[in-house]
Amino acid sequence: MTATLVTGIGELVTFDPAHRGPLGLVQDAALLAVDGRVAWTGPGTSAPREDADEVVDVGGAAVIPGFVDSHTHLVFAGDRATEFEARMAGRPYTAGGIRSTVAATRAATDDELRRRLARFVAELYVQGTTTFEVKSGYGLTVADEQRLLTLAGEVTDETTFLGAHVVPPEFADDQEAYVDLVTGPMLDACAPHARWIDVFCETGAFTVEQSRRILSAGAARGLGVRVHAAQLGPGEGVALAVELDAASVDHCTYLSDDDVERLAASRTAATLLPGVEFSTRHPYPSGRRLRDAGATVAIASDCNPGSSFTSSMPFCIALAVREMGLTPAEALEAATLGGAAALRRDDVGHLRPGARAHLAVLAAPTYVHLAYRPGVPLVARTLRAAR
Ligand code: NIG
Ligand code: FE
Repeated sequence: MTATLVTGIGELVTFDPAHRGPLGLVQDAALLAVDGRVAWTGPGTSAPREDADEVVDVGGAAVIPGFVDSHTHLVFAGDRATEFEARMAGRPYTAGGIRSTVAATRAATDDELRRRLARFVAELYVQGTTTFEVKSGYGLTVADEQRLLTLAGEVTDETTFLGAHVVPPEFADDQEAYVDLVTGPMLDACAPHARWIDVFCETGAFTVEQSRRILSAGAARGLGVRVHAAQLGPGEGVALAVELDAASVDHCTYLSDDDVERLAASRTAATLLPGVEFSTRHPYPSGRRLRDAGATVAIASDCNPGSSFTSSMPFCIALAVREMGLTPAEALEAATLGGAAALRRDDVGHLRPGARAHLAVLAAPTYVHLAYRPGVPLVARTLRAAR
């Protein structure tokens, strides 16, 4: 047994109702972690020092739960800087760019993909992310999708099978045959390596009927459901996600009033991806509208080479505050507890007793600085299981 006492915390965000306000704040706080789990939080003056094997003094810093990034596409090769540059000169974003990453990814060796993935994971940690999901979706053959999920599984338990990202060029003339492949042999090969199944339900990718087939086949194999929907235009993807009790529906850029009501009445998190609107010069959806309706709101990076090539949750928080109408407190909640809800996890995203002791120590006196000082590297230190 190892007991670590973190002291000198100027402001601690716990989300524990035993502490102050919706964030469960404690000023001048301490946290005791035993065997990687939170055992106690409270004022530093009452810290159980005698129980600690080691003491870590953070010198007055704010400490928050590590970010939970519930949506990334980190296993890929190639680069689409040219596409981004063209977009910034006025070209629209389309789902078609995905195919260029598919070609580069298929051509890459396992070791090359592994090295790139390790670099992204290091980026996540230094920016305070301690739990993250990784999708396949740039392989689109049985062997490549299985390979990408195996690599993802080397860095996280939150792996998602996204064989239904787009229809690959070799099936352009027979989309239904590709759906048969995804729901048949590809699912057989991938299900053992995935916790989740996802589909890009959008014009230019998969129809709502195809999406229902794909997600239902995954659910029948024990995979949890998540959906990419309403990114490029309105559609029935959000309704489908709620119908299938998806853990999360992601993008939510175009929501009808009915969609918002459906989400509010459901267990499905609405995951906002502000890096996408930023990188595609798209109007931002309103996080305010979803919060006010009572929906569970999450924020994720969607880190991918096309629509959002940022791995920074602090950057996404700043955008959600400035552009989506969330308060700094609401955006922090969406990036921690909200992400945990989107992954149906109750052991991360907060620091109540029993939670994993995953923490981000900020070079700032308060969490508000995450939005107040955008672009500044404010994560001084990231602890996973208190290490
Ligand atoms: O979540 N929307 C679909 N998939 C990704 C984009 C992938 C890409 O452009 O390579 C997304 O935005
Ligand atoms: Fe995505």
